Amino acid sequence: MSVDDSIGPAVPIERSTGGKSGGLCFERPNETTMGVLEDKARARLFYKYLSRAYDTINPFIWNETMRDEALEWFGIEAGDRVLDVGCGTGFATEGLLRHTEDVWALDQSIHQLEKAFSKFGKRGPVKFHRGDAERLPFADDSFDAYWSSGSIEYWPNPVEALREARRVTKPGGPVLVVGPDYPKTTVFGKLADAIMLFYDEEEADRMFEAAGFETFEHRIQQRAPGTPRAITTIARVPDAVDPAQ
Ligand SMILES: C[S@@+](CC[C@H](N)C(=O)[O-])C[C@H]1O[C@@H](n2cnc3c(N)ncnc32)[C@H](O)[C@@H]1O
Repeated sequence: MSVDDSIGPAVPIERSTGGKSGGLCFERPNETTMGVLEDKARARLFYKYLSRAYDTINPFIWNETMRDEALEWFGIEAGDRVLDVGCGTGFATEGLLRHTEDVWALDQSIHQLEKAFSKFGKRGPVKFHRGDAERLPFADDSFDAYWSSGSIEYWPNPVEALREARRVTKPGGPVLVVGPDYPKTTVFGKLADAIMLFYDEEEADRMFEAAGFETFEHRIQQRAPGTPRAITTIARVPDAVDPAQ
């Protein structure tokens, strides 16, 4: 099965190549070197093994309190159609389902998805898709809201994926992205850069602006002092530009 294969129903939406994103363009937010896991094939291999222990390790970094706080900021309502990108084993998916019954979830790792299927069923309440955050298999404006927690750090082209978030979400809809905040010390910073994308608020500004967002804010989340910090961005999809204007 290719990574773009759909697990959920093929309707009602499929990917368009034009529209709001204005075509594909691959770029990095700045001149930083790529971490070893910012490679789709390597990230899939990594999660082939990590999926076995993911739900045991995850709460040390990203726990229910942090997720539920972010869900409050997200502000979705019952009936909203929400996309969870990089859903993994379904930790955030489960939280999203408490707010709306119309949850769609996508991940590039079949091993992570299989863990999620064991919780929700393969064709149960969640519409699962296997696919790539940077090439979402959905038409423009398919969703009321877009959520992605703990996945951006693996995307080789985060700006492209954020453009995709903007494309598939309706104007005015929230886009919430959780990623790892950049370490404060040089040694940890260098180590972090060698592994995956860690970023600070300035770099988050650059990425979201480059992806076409105009309204967004970043909030730092942390399980306990001394533990890894998350940088959570809540953005709004801008209104479409009227070509006649
Ligand atoms: C740390 S887990 C996050 C899981 C879940 N969102 C959570 O909140 O616990 C990161 C997930 O992102 C997925 N991922 C990484 N790169 C991806 C990509 N390019 N497209 C889709 N999913 C990706 C991985 O397979 C993994 O399941």
